[in-house]
Amino acid sequence: MRYENIVVTGGSGRLGRHVVELLAPQAKLTVIDVAPPARDDVAHENVSITDYEALKRVFAGKDAIVHLAAIPNPRTSSPEKCFGVNTTGTWAVLQAAEDAGVKRVIVCSSDSTTGLHYNPPGWVPQFLPVDETHPLRAIEPYSLSKVVTEVVARSFADRGKLEILVIRPAHIVFEPEYPEIADRGSDVQNYHLWGYVAPEDVAEGFRLALEVEDGSYDVFFIAAEDGMNTRPTLELLKERFGEVPEVRNAELYKSNPTAAVFGIEHARKKLGYAPSKTWRDFKKA
Ligand SMILES: NC(=O)c1ccc[n+]([C@@H]2O[C@H](COP(=O)([O-])OP(=O)(O)OC[C@H]3O[C@@H](n4cnc5c(N)ncnc54)[C@H](O)[C@@H]3O)[C@@H](O)[C@H]2O)c1
Repeated sequence: MRYENIVVTGGSGRLGRHVVELLAPQAKLTVIDVAPPARDDVAHENVSITDYEALKRVFAGKDAIVHLAAIPNPRTSSPEKCFGVNTTGTWAVLQAAEDAGVKRVIVCSSDSTTGLHYNPPGWVPQFLPVDETHPLRAIEPYSLSKVVTEVVARSFADRGKLEILVIRPAHIVFEPEYPEIADRGSDVQNYHLWGYVAPEDVAEGFRLALEVEDGSYDVFFIAAEDGMNTRPTLELLKERFGEVPEVRNAELYKSNPTAAVFGIEHARKKLGYAPSKTWRDFKKA
């Protein structure tokens, strides 16, 4: 592992546990979380990501940070809390990291920054697959908090002291959701445009972003290869939106008719990311 002392904010959460599991054998980890971590062999600091002074203390002597802590949707808390914690928390984490002399931060964003989730009025994928050049048009508090997260991340990267890479996971499917996947995949109005990813693959995306040599600012979708749909993706899009968006990689949907709406080519090329799981494995679990 390129870095020896790594902090994982949100390391007690659903994704955080997978990241900790993957990185613990390779680095000395400290989890920052207001909830206790799943493992007791990893250092834990019960610190809020909005507490700049406490963060700076914990970050002293650390090499890298994986910043996952957030309110992961606007339904489990108030919109004010979701937007407030996610945005000021990211600012405090990056300011404290810069002041403590941390080298690299991998920031967790979301594919919802595109504004394509939750059936927004008048907004459809502008082209397929949706990649990191796709315009962002967030209209609800969580997605907007992640757009702001990315703006803050970019600003710190531009200041030139921190290396910052941003990961945009697709909808992460955790075990309790496995029984619902087939139904969700057949729903033409699926909230996430049938996109999904296994937490193990997201954790691997974060590991690769820590390891990649080039630390210049960059953004990566991390998703499964396919959607959770069994009918062809282009057919579902036509039924949902009345027309198929411009297809920029026809070969992709020809060779794999259920290929995902969100593309992972950039992560594949630059990080060496290769998803290891599909929802078809989950059904067997
Ligand atoms: N779950 C998904 O489908 C999904 C998809 C894309 C991106 N993400 C992002 O992945 C990250 C992890 O999400 P998750 O699904 O594991 O959520 P989670 O709620 O399970 O984990 C978030 C963790 O952050 C901690 N936390 C919250 N507020 C905090 C604060 N003020 N200070 C310190 N810790 C705090 C929580 O205690 C929790 O352990 C988030 O950034 C989320 O936005 C999630």
